[in-house]
Amino acid sequence: MTSLPSRVILVDVGPRDGLQNEKQTVDAAVKIELVHRLQAAGLKEIEVTSFVSPKWVPQMADNAAVLAGITRPPGVRYSVLVPNMKGLDAALSAPRSEWPDEVVVFAAATEAFSQRNINCSITESVERFRPVVAAARERGIKVRGAISCALGCPYQGEVTADEVERVVRLIKEIGVEHCGIADTIGVGTPKRVQAAMERALKHYPLAEVSGHFHDTYGQAIGNVYAALEAGIATFDASVAGLGGCPYAKGATGNVATEDVLFLLNGLGIETGVSIDGLVDAAAYISGVLGRKPVSRVANALLAKRASTAS
Ligand code: HMG
Ligand code: MG
Repeated sequence: MTSLPSRVILVDVGPRDGLQNEKQTVDAAVKIELVHRLQAAGLKEIEVTSFVSPKWVPQMADNAAVLAGITRPPGVRYSVLVPNMKGLDAALSAPRSEWPDEVVVFAAATEAFSQRNINCSITESVERFRPVVAAARERGIKVRGAISCALGCPYQGEVTADEVERVVRLIKEIGVEHCGIADTIGVGTPKRVQAAMERALKHYPLAEVSGHFHDTYGQAIGNVYAALEAGIATFDASVAGLGGCPYAKGATGNVATEDVLFLLNGLGIETGVSIDGLVDAAAYISGVLGRKPVSRVANALLAKRASTAS
């Protein structure tokens, strides 16, 4: 039996990856409250917003208000997504106390997705990130990279491990410190996950590789387990299973943080996150959005709460 990591870092990307895809406008005050509830549940890593073009993603136009409004307790780290220097400059235009701890740059494993998502080729995108990485690191801000469509592309279809490794090399070369393998459209299955992780691990240490799985085809929990077997101990997930990607039609949200936590708890893997606190956060944001969480675990636990309360 493979030994699994004894501790896992959960990065809740719901306030960014989740809410970037909402049709309805979500007030900055709600986003701020969501971040506060996530940290109250014990999450230590939260992707709070993105500094992308508001013409492309209007849902994140309140990025500065969100960063200014959240209160970061000691030990909690905030990340923001930035596509270029303009985004980094905007993220750092606030007082230093409000700066994110980490920025996330994102490149695609396929040319077609790169063009649709960020309007340029893979090489151009990496060249755009070069000064972002240098400027962020000079200021002591960590840089994480996300490789979109690493397990399948809505435009190209199949994606090979060679294509993934090509981008891993490119981001490593410009100084990106962490490599996230992202299944943007949720088509990955365990063996493919392990193949992609192996390629990332040729260039990055275990602690600097993570999985970011969308759950469109219901494979994400299996994929988290496959990645755990490969030793991966950092996962992005979205509270209540919020989200999708505006440039990947039909892609649903990230795997729900509650569902991943239930798996990890069952495996005896430490996270420091409270399932009850997380379900509270899921119930809160789902209530605001007027729908049930897209999380089996949240729905099961909320039903259990309702039945014991009645
Ligand atoms: P572009 O149109 O090629 O760039 O967009 P541009 O430089 O020509 O700028 C166009 C306009 O946007 C200009 O304004 C710029 O000033 C402005 P105008 O002169 O027309 O008034 N602009 C900006 N404004 C604010 N912040 C900025 C910024 N940059 C330019 N940072 C760009 C290129 C990358 C900006 C655009 O394509 C963009 O913002 N795309 C959005 C991408 C995005 O947010 N996608 C979703 C997130 S990625 C994701 O979800 C995947 C992930 O979860 C992993 C996975 O699951 O795969 C990470
Ligand atoms: Mg995503």
